[in-house]
Amino acid sequence: MASIATRTLRTMDDPFHKLLDADTRADNITAAMRIDSPIEPGPALIPKARYISRDYHELEKQHLWSRVWQQAAHEDDFAHIGDVVPYDIVDKSYLLVRTGEDDYKAFHNACLHRGRKLRESPAKGLDEIRCAFHGWSWELDGTLKQVPCAYDYSGLDRNAERLPEVKVGRWGRYLFINPDPNCEPLEKYLGDLSSQFKVFPYERRYKRAHVAKVIRANWKVVQEAFMESYHVLLTHPQGLTGGANDMCTKYDVFGNYSRAIRTGALEGLGVPEWDPLPGQNAALVRHPLNGWVYEDAGEGQVRVTTPKGKNGLFTATGKWLEGELKDANQHLCILVGGRKVRGASLSQGDPMAIDPTQAERLNRLLGEGASPRVLAAEAFRDSLRKVIPSIADNIPDVELTSQVYLTVFPNFHPWGSFNEINYRFRPNGDNHEECIMEVMLMAPIPDDGVYTPTREVHQLDIDDDFVEAEELGVLGPVFNQDTLNMPYVHQGMKASARSHIRLAEYNETKIRHFHKLYDKWVDAYR
Ligand code: FES
Ligand SMILES: [Fe+2]
Repeated sequence: MASIATRTLRTMDDPFHKLLDADTRADNITAAMRIDSPIEPGPALIPKARYISRDYHELEKQHLWSRVWQQAAHEDDFAHIGDVVPYDIVDKSYLLVRTGEDDYKAFHNACLHRGRKLRESPAKGLDEIRCAFHGWSWELDGTLKQVPCAYDYSGLDRNAERLPEVKVGRWGRYLFINPDPNCEPLEKYLGDLSSQFKVFPYERRYKRAHVAKVIRANWKVVQEAFMESYHVLLTHPQGLTGGANDMCTKYDVFGNYSRAIRTGALEGLGVPEWDPLPGQNAALVRHPLNGWVYEDAGEGQVRVTTPKGKNGLFTATGKWLEGELKDANQHLCILVGGRKVRGASLSQGDPMAIDPTQAERLNRLLGEGASPRVLAAEAFRDSLRKVIPSIADNIPDVELTSQVYLTVFPNFHPWGSFNEINYRFRPNGDNHEECIMEVMLMAPIPDDGVYTPTREVHQLDIDDDFVEAEELGVLGPVFNQDTLNMPYVHQGMKASARSHIRLAEYNETKIRHFHKLYDKWVDAYR
């Protein structure tokens, strides 16, 4: 890795610990939440070849994807014994099979006759795995069952024709696989990951939505857009309202995973006070820093007006059409001029946003002077009391009002606390210039144990709008803002006169941590 030495910069430890001390459930804050675990000082320059060169992709195939533990499926994908789910990664494919009440196996997804993929899509309730080409078949546990015209294979040793297995590990109802027969156990690889989810472990969540979409950029370009809060400033400026800002995120690293805790509203970025915008909604938004107003002008156009009255008309992707004002924030243009989520308000899903009638009641309950954070936490507890009354009362404020997002190397992103988001990013087949981005929403399993998980992946086409996936709610337009950058990051890296990109020392801690591990897993073999 190209390198410049970096300091161990920690801007958030003290404010965060003050926040924990003020928590109304301070006694219930987990030990993991209290840990400060800085990244070692180290390089912040990353060769761009890691993202854009085919050589690196080939190295990843050989040394990363064939050796590392990777999240391949979830228990909710398998309703019954005999359900099978293929997991494709680069040019390889594995078949995960539910073989018993609580047993799973994974096989190389290829027939031992002439090599056809055994299953190219999920299937339900199989009592055997039969190849569609000439009909060789195997029991669910991989023992050979039948060879049509078996007389034609002299000396066939049936025991030697078991389906070759790969290792399966399980964590929090997720299924992981590792193609390397000599790999360390998953438990050792994940280390103390479970300690991060003590308040509400993944064993108590189910998959309520699963959306996949191909993005035109390397998988690491796409993934890294979800590993820092720095980009909120420009890419999701609407998220700066209510005092949340990019600087209020604490970053820590632990073995093979890293963590960000975005608290919002600590010391503030000094967001200016603007006159209230009457009827602010998804079609009318004020940029909280410069005060420019973005208004849906219909037909995919956006009228932008500055506080001094200068204005211009732009397309939903921020291209100038007419007017004195020649440049505007692309991401607000797509938010305001792009497709809207039906019936959703901008603040929906934001734990810091409180319905006014509820706030009134909460104010009475909690007494005058309760902080917005305490009110927001209590409002969130209210909604959880309906689902998981057994624990709702005891949940610390910090778990309810922060966005805690973890990354397990190389590509799995389970969010903490009660945020439902989980991501997985991988190359689109053998194409290193495209990424499959998947969003899984993991909801609490209600105390009464009654829930209906999704068993399907909602596959969006490459040019589909994220808003097509209505189950994503207000996340759809937010992902549209993110995906506006990614192909241009990939293209910009190719266009760059530099051989490397530069990472921030603290705000891009998680990305630096990823690349330190990447050094070891991939770069070491160059
Ligand atoms: S390739 Fe599978 S049975 Fe022939
Ligand atoms: Fe984003």
